[in-house]
Amino acid sequence: MSETVAIGTPRPRAPRPEELDLKFSESAVAELDALKTHYPDLKSCILPGLWIAQREYGGWLPPEAIAEVAFRLNRSFAEVEGVATFYTMYNTAHKPGRHMIEVCTCLSCHVCGAYRIVDYLEEKLGVKLGETTPDGMFTIHEVECLDACDRAPVLQIGDQYVGPVTSEMVDKILDDLRKVETPSAVQLSDAVVKVHLRDGDK
Ligand code: FES
Repeated sequence: MSETVAIGTPRPRAPRPEELDLKFSESAVAELDALKTHYPDLKSCILPGLWIAQREYGGWLPPEAIAEVAFRLNRSFAEVEGVATFYTMYNTAHKPGRHMIEVCTCLSCHVCGAYRIVDYLEEKLGVKLGETTPDGMFTIHEVECLDACDRAPVLQIGDQYVGPVTSEMVDKILDDLRKVETPSAVQLSDAVVKVHLRDGDK
């Protein structure tokens, strides 16, 4: 069952350097080393470093992941945590379900029935926005414009956009996702890391 954290719960304290149990794989360290060469100031490498960490830690950024990025980039924990908690695509509050379904409810999607999709998802999965199903399979979130308004209403699952989506399509989407082992947040994080590596090589 996935962990839930009440709003307002203080985050655990930062691990001390001597407590670090580094989890980056060899290939992740190699990726970070390659990315470091793209930036004269390692502060700029915090964002891609966090994407690597989110992938390596299974789709979220517990304090240990933030501490590892800080350690590997020689930054302070507070500086890296400040970046991680500013951007909503980094999962810092708790580990999401295996699949994160993000529903755009901004203007175009709203007009085209996004809340019908929200209602349908909530009913099918028995959870509300921001919650994870008891089996840890799905987390549903409401997000701002995904810049795919021509496909409204749109869902984001990993690095894939699905739209225009209908309630009838939701059942098949859920069935298909149940067969996918890789967590959406891991898949998305890996895709973003690859973009950073590719763009830096241009
Ligand atoms: S309003 Fe939903 S993608 Fe723009």
